[in-house]
Amino acid sequence: MFESPDLIDGIRLTEKELEEKKEAEKKLIDITLKLYKADISYYQEDNPSLTDAQYDDLKNQSLKILEKYPDLATLIDPSKRIGAEIKSGFKKVEHKVPMLSLSNIFNTGEIFEFIESIHRFLGNNNDIDFYCEPKIDGLSFSARYEKGIFVQGATRGDGTTGEDITENLKTIDELPKRILNHDIPDIFEIRGEVYMSKKDFLELNEKNAKENKKIFANPRNAAAGSLRQLDTKITRERKLRMFVYTWGDVSKVVWKSQKEFIDTINSWGFPTNPNNKLCGSISDIENFYNHLQSIRADLDYDIDGVVYKVNNLALQNRLGFLTRTPRWATAHKFPAEKAITRIEDIKIQVGRTGALTPVANLESVNVGGVIVSHATLHNEDEIKRKDIRINDYVVVQRAGDVIPQVVEVLLDKRQPDSKEFIFPALCPVCGSKTIREEDEAVRRCTNGLNCPAQATESLKHFVSRDAFDIEGLGSKIIEDFYFEGIIKNPTDIFTLEERNKGQAYDLFSQAEGLNLENREGWGKKSVENLFAAINSRRTVDLPRFIYALGIRQVGIATSLLIAKNFRSFKEFMTEMKEEKTEKLLSIDGIGSAMAKDITVFFKEPHNIETIDKLLKQIKIEDYIDTTNYNSPISGKTVVFTGTLEKMTRIEAKAKAQSLGAKVAGSVSKSTDYVIVGADAGSKAKKAAEFGVSTLTEEEFLSFIG
Ligand code: IVH
Repeated sequence: MFESPDLIDGIRLTEKELEEKKEAEKKLIDITLKLYKADISYYQEDNPSLTDAQYDDLKNQSLKILEKYPDLATLIDPSKRIGAEIKSGFKKVEHKVPMLSLSNIFNTGEIFEFIESIHRFLGNNNDIDFYCEPKIDGLSFSARYEKGIFVQGATRGDGTTGEDITENLKTIDELPKRILNHDIPDIFEIRGEVYMSKKDFLELNEKNAKENKKIFANPRNAAAGSLRQLDTKITRERKLRMFVYTWGDVSKVVWKSQKEFIDTINSWGFPTNPNNKLCGSISDIENFYNHLQSIRADLDYDIDGVVYKVNNLALQNRLGFLTRTPRWATAHKFPAEKAITRIEDIKIQVGRTGALTPVANLESVNVGGVIVSHATLHNEDEIKRKDIRINDYVVVQRAGDVIPQVVEVLLDKRQPDSKEFIFPALCPVCGSKTIREEDEAVRRCTNGLNCPAQATESLKHFVSRDAFDIEGLGSKIIEDFYFEGIIKNPTDIFTLEERNKGQAYDLFSQAEGLNLENREGWGKKSVENLFAAINSRRTVDLPRFIYALGIRQVGIATSLLIAKNFRSFKEFMTEMKEEKTEKLLSIDGIGSAMAKDITVFFKEPHNIETIDKLLKQIKIEDYIDTTNYNSPISGKTVVFTGTLEKMTRIEAKAKAQSLGAKVAGSVSKSTDYVIVGADAGSKAKKAAEFGVSTLTEEEFLSFIG
């Protein structure tokens, strides 16, 4: 509570004192306006109008006035100033070229397999050069230049859409804001990793500890927390750095190899890693890996492995991509970090598909810079096999983003009070019967979506990043809403706004409005943001929708395959409901076990009911393969048979797929072309039987141009 303007500490002011206060008020308004303008030039124009000392001096003066006349704070509320409300969120940026990730290998033996698979794909026995680079443990970013001027920066996001961090990237000294070299393509997008040096990370944590502020677990988290700041002043203070290692959307590729790209951009002023090296043989590659591992601790930035890239661009282009990773590169991860700790307890988690997973609660331990307090124990057999007991001392390890694991029990440290863990026969969440099917290691709750754990996990999956990607519906909110009866199934997400307005939800319940704004920690703005996020997802693309359904075994890659082959959800669902699996099984990559899980899903009346209700709220876009709309085999189903000469079978299949064709493993009535190599067998005969057109390899190559 503030006092009346003519009182200080309850004492009435004299005329003179009142005059002084009026002066102070005028001065405060003047200072506030100056600070306001300075904030605009700093935050929005990136062109500071005051030095830090001038700014601090003004701020101190205003604080002194407020100390003396606290009631003036209501007049000039600093929290309402521009700096605190610059932007309400990051804009979205569509990546013109998707930002993909890398496949991983974990031991030296796999280097050989990786190189072998490349030779097999290309049918090539010549030596292939690899450009080898440290794998920087930071955050990937893209930076777009138009006519040499930096115009836009983005985070990776889900690989297709990221967040606009242009202003944040501008604060990083190492990023050139303007390239003067004339050779730079008109449109030039570079990609790399933003990181925080180990030294800056330690200094930041020391400073934050003194000021009672957030302590970051590792440099990567600190870099992430610093880059995604709406207040770019904070990003600037955090001294981020970067390495550039690849490109995205460019109007002209003027380099022929990865090495040439790196050398070129380095000469244009981009920071590239000084340890990058061209390797011509497997032993060169192994030496590079060992060398980096030996200098890892001395580097002033974190690396978590080495990246091997086919150096020659023409070969890279032939090799192309799998769903989310290039065939021409892989990441060789450093061995997992390990530590010893004690198991305090073992708990069971029930997942989306009802799987009961035992999880160890650990005495917190630092594993390679990350605090670990839980580890998965996988399943009941694993607990028995490793003889894991509560109170045991164990070795835990973590590698990259994977969940920490218990590697072994230290039997010589076994405690007299160690307790065997009895795996529950009933679901610990809903008490229902559990079953373990033959040949399966997993025990599952049989209660389906009536089990709260399965229901909430399914909802979390439904809103997750690769599915409906609804920002604002985090795990905790989903759980709260589920247990309060606000969101029980996916459709409820899309009726939330309508119900919040106070309209009756259904005729029977005549429910009052939900008044989400009145929930603790919520307000008008957060509720509006949530509805905006939900409404922006009322139209969803087919692969996301299929993935969101949470069908067992159907991950993102399979969802994409199904979408590409069926194109419309209606067609897919109709065939699945009727258990027509011919088309499904003809898809390269879908086997009978997966097909069974899919048809079982569509046989369940509850699932159909959920989908039908949901379809009243949302629209599923048909799948349109835009990649090669003009290709003569786009949308066609092709089958390869016999021995090909110009390219290997794997390359031929990949090529056809990249041109928009569906590659089937067997000939059927719906096959459009059969490409017949030497010594073709029954498939060629079948093509003749069905009257399907056949092409020789030569004909196929000239057909696709
Ligand atoms: S190349 C097409 N090179 O690792 C893939 N990535 O696990 C292009 N990363 O998303 C990536 N250092 O964020 C590449 N020298 C390097 C890298 C690197 C770190 C990150 C990058 C990528 C992730 C894949």
